[in-house]
Amino acid sequence: MGTEHDAPDTRQGVPSSPFHGYVNGQLTSGGVPLASVAEQFDTPTYVYAPASIDARYRAIDDALSFAPHLIAYAVKANGNLAILKRLAALGCGADIVSAGELHRALRAGIPGSKIVFSGVGKKRDEICAALHAGVKSLHVESAQELDMIETVAKRVGARAPVSLRINPDVDPQTHPYIATGLHSTKFGIETEEALQLVPRVVASPHLEMVGVACHIGSQLGSATPLEEAVTLLGRFALTCRDLGAPIREIDVGGGWPLDYGHEAVPYPGADVFGQAIRRGLEASGALALGAELITEPGRSLVGEAGVLLARVVYVKERRKRFVIVDAAMNDLVRPALYGAYHAIQPVSEPAPSEELSPADVVGPVCESGDFLGRDRLLPPLGPGDLVAVRCAGAYGREMASTYNARPAAAEVFVEDGVATLVRRRGDLASLWAGEES
Ligand code: LLP
Repeated sequence: MGTEHDAPDTRQGVPSSPFHGYVNGQLTSGGVPLASVAEQFDTPTYVYAPASIDARYRAIDDALSFAPHLIAYAVKANGNLAILKRLAALGCGADIVSAGELHRALRAGIPGSKIVFSGVGKKRDEICAALHAGVKSLHVESAQELDMIETVAKRVGARAPVSLRINPDVDPQTHPYIATGLHSTKFGIETEEALQLVPRVVASPHLEMVGVACHIGSQLGSATPLEEAVTLLGRFALTCRDLGAPIREIDVGGGWPLDYGHEAVPYPGADVFGQAIRRGLEASGALALGAELITEPGRSLVGEAGVLLARVVYVKERRKRFVIVDAAMNDLVRPALYGAYHAIQPVSEPAPSEELSPADVVGPVCESGDFLGRDRLLPPLGPGDLVAVRCAGAYGREMASTYNARPAAAEVFVEDGVATLVRRRGDLASLWAGEES
């Protein structure tokens, strides 16, 4: 099945959005012409329209209105403090995978009571920090990790709230790098083994089994695998309850998809995913437990909000046209890493008379894999022109590096016609911070 990662780049769609579009021939985000953002903050710059985040949050919130629920934003999608604060103000919690993400979430005002801790490799000090922060639950990924959590809890005199994360062996039909619910991946505990751990958790004075969890993958192409996984998770929850675990929460993971604009058929909407979760909980009988439903969306909350704004440096016309821009794979690695599609638009709207022709939009990094888009139909472009790479709010700046000693891009919020810097551009000193004594 095709996903946004493996679909050929020849489909050239642009996602429709009330937050980004041409106004009087100028691409505008959050009411601000992107040309003026470039003038004010230079390029490359990540530009986010936070009203998009609000709208996405509300759509998921509505889709889950059938049960008491918590949306625990997957901080890994974009941990910018301004974004986390925005989500915190909406009542959002956080799904974290490291002490760093824990402290980001806390710093943004998300209380520990709304934070769940996922990830296969939680270290002793990270578990300790999570217990001190009073997190809602730690998602246990192995028997060894359970031992470690128990040991740390005993030492600090706490009772650790834990959820067992099962690996339901469901194929999420997504890119293999972001499929996590198959037995062939490192994630979760196989259900049989997890069941054997339950009596031990229930008996421990240092552990409390508050819930169950799973996450089958990111960018789910259909809600059917999610329904299947939630049904299995619900059954597991009921068995755990029978074994004496309180089970106050059922965490169904993330995976809510985002249209990147080139899909032959649009991804199912939030309402469809909400219904799939509901059906899974009903089919298993777990809805009757009255447990809090938790979901961990990342991309679907913040992806559409973001645009990576870049400026053309040079154009090479050879057998093919290369538009060399000042953003590169170090800024947005998704095209290079997964072959992911991101729509690329010229900031000045092409006139109807302008002919579009294919171009590879590439960065200055010294790798052939350094491209943002291939064979894109674009108007004539020259040095100084601006382009916007769409749907870059999730796994964009967050996965950036300083490869080729390229300082990190700036980040800007655009709202009600006003642009505000939310993270300044990396400077030269940031490149060698920590290297000089
Ligand atoms: N919960 C857990 C336990 C996860 O591992 C993830 C994503 C999420 C939630 C959020 O998934 P989302 O709602 O964003 O689909 N770098 C890749 C995506 C990696 C996702 C890893 N885990 C990309 O750029 O496509």
